[in-house]
Amino acid sequence: MLAVLDTWWGGLKGEAGAKERALLLPRLYFQHFTTTSFLVERDGGQMVAFLVGFLSQTDPETAYVHFVGVDPALHGQGIGRALYRSFFALARSHGRRYVHCITSPGNTGSQAFHARLGFTTSAVKPDYDGPGLDRVAFTIDLSED
Ligand SMILES: CC(C)(COP(=O)(O)OP(=O)(O)OC[C@H]1O[C@@H](n2cnc3c(N)ncnc32)[C@H](O)[C@@H]1OP(=O)(O)O)[C@@H](O)C(=O)NCCC(=O)NCCS
Repeated sequence: MLAVLDTWWGGLKGEAGAKERALLLPRLYFQHFTTTSFLVERDGGQMVAFLVGFLSQTDPETAYVHFVGVDPALHGQGIGRALYRSFFALARSHGRRYVHCITSPGNTGSQAFHARLGFTTSAVKPDYDGPGLDRVAFTIDLSED
């Protein structure tokens, strides 16, 4: 997954962006969150898409999508939506009502995608993830779906 981040994110925010993204995937996600995450592969094992998510330990009504990506060659074919649908079903089966996630203000594609899926989008939250790391937050209420 680390190997595809730069291409799949189209080099968004240059070197600083690449560093931020790589730091979002420490090994712990592949040790402790595999049962709430999805990987889509071709027959030969080549990765097509992924969704890294988890059930909130703090809020029993909430699940969280930490990171999602689809091979750019396959954008617009419903793969992202299918991944979210799978995650929503998983979240519901664990009694979760809300799904949250965030993105960078500059990631307009992500914002359009989440809006299309029915997420509400917050105003830009300055320094949300630390100094200079502004974010936009998304929420969906699964009981309204
Ligand atoms: C965002 C992303 C996951 C969407 O995946 P996808 O498989 O292309 O999305 P889908 O084909 O399932 O699209 C679902 C809906 O969102 C819309 N949508 C998706 N990307 C869009 C974009 N960039 N601009 C406008 N609408 C978009 C689609 O048109 C579709 O709407 P429709 O049902 O009316 O046709 C993918 O573009 C991606 O991996 N981007 C780079 C990584 C990234 O930014 N990840 C998210 C932030 S962490």
